[in-house]
Amino acid sequence: MESFSADRLNNVKEYYFSRKLREVSSLINNGKPIINLGIGNPDLLPPETVVKSLKKCFINPKHSQYQSYQGIPELRQSISKFYKNHYSVNLDYRNEILPLIGSKEGIFHISMAFLNPGDKVLVPNPGYPTYKSVSNLIGAETVEYKLEQNNNWQPNINELNNINLNGVKLMWINYPNMPTGAHFQEDILKELIEWGRKNKILIINDNPYSFILTSSPKSIMSISGSEDACLELNSLSKCFNMAGWRVGMLVGASDKIKSVISVKTNIDSGMFYGIQKAAISALEISNSWFEKLNYEYSLRKRLIFKLAKKMSLKYETNTSGLFIWAKIEDSLINSEQFIDEMLYNKHLFFAPGNIFGSQGEGYIRISLCVNQNEIKTAISRLN
Ligand SMILES: Cc1ncc(COP(=O)(O)O)c(C=O)c1O
Repeated sequence: MESFSADRLNNVKEYYFSRKLREVSSLINNGKPIINLGIGNPDLLPPETVVKSLKKCFINPKHSQYQSYQGIPELRQSISKFYKNHYSVNLDYRNEILPLIGSKEGIFHISMAFLNPGDKVLVPNPGYPTYKSVSNLIGAETVEYKLEQNNNWQPNINELNNINLNGVKLMWINYPNMPTGAHFQEDILKELIEWGRKNKILIINDNPYSFILTSSPKSIMSISGSEDACLELNSLSKCFNMAGWRVGMLVGASDKIKSVISVKTNIDSGMFYGIQKAAISALEISNSWFEKLNYEYSLRKRLIFKLAKKMSLKYETNTSGLFIWAKIEDSLINSEQFIDEMLYNKHLFFAPGNIFGSQGEGYIRISLCVNQNEIKTAISRLN
């Protein structure tokens, strides 16, 4: 029988982790003591005030009703304050902010709002796989731009100028970078914004890691010229340990936010009131939260370096975000072979670098979302 699925599914596969974690789960169910160092799923609790705010919202029946499509004004006001306090960016809460049910859905809404079938999109290689798969789902054409270690995994304007930009409407960037841990470099992004303006390409910075192991949080919207040339996605998943709560945001010029609202309001019917109130509590939290969080991640990071050394991997130490991006020294073994060997023989799971693009071949990504004891156990398995 012919496939019943839509043709658009010919261009996308099930998300790698959705597939591979089924295998990991079945190994666990068969009694294998797997330590999952593969995914960026924060394992620590959200701030106490966040949980308290949520708990208050179960009594009033109004709080169980559908909520505003654009998020309650109070949430947009607190996002506006958050951007002002942490990134020195002024945003009008009335029309320059759109709360999202996680930033991943924003990638879909943005693509739906700005891309016609056949339009071209610049996606990073290596990069978060969703930029490419969502573009494919909606019939846009992805054009990869290379990030290279010898250029600190930053976009290279000379290389971008060598690409045929005819039909390119949009460019995804992600600084601090996942999977490489490269920093947000203001001078480079300033140059990129000018390049985007010249070529009429909308640049979108996907920014969920700005508070994790950085010297200070940065937003592309703080760079002059970005106002009408860029959008930014942000998320509470990583910086407040709220990945499963699904809260993110899109910020930028009101005309572009309006286009995304036209898509989003036809797909979901708002976010649970309690989660919006909880998000407000998170956004209001003092800097000591981030200091405590980063202290824990810095201790884990040191242990992960030990683990990486035991596997004879090469890595940079001065990086941001929730991952260590490590190079396999043995050129005879590829990323997937390496992680399968570790999975089956040592019961350690890592993400193979090639799932982020061909430039990730020869690398693995190690997550910091694992407690110190488990990392020590992982190290001992390699003795
Ligand atoms: C680069 C990047 N963008 C977006 C996301 C999605 O985050 P959210 O939980 O806000 O949907 C992730 C999650 O891992 C990510 O690594």
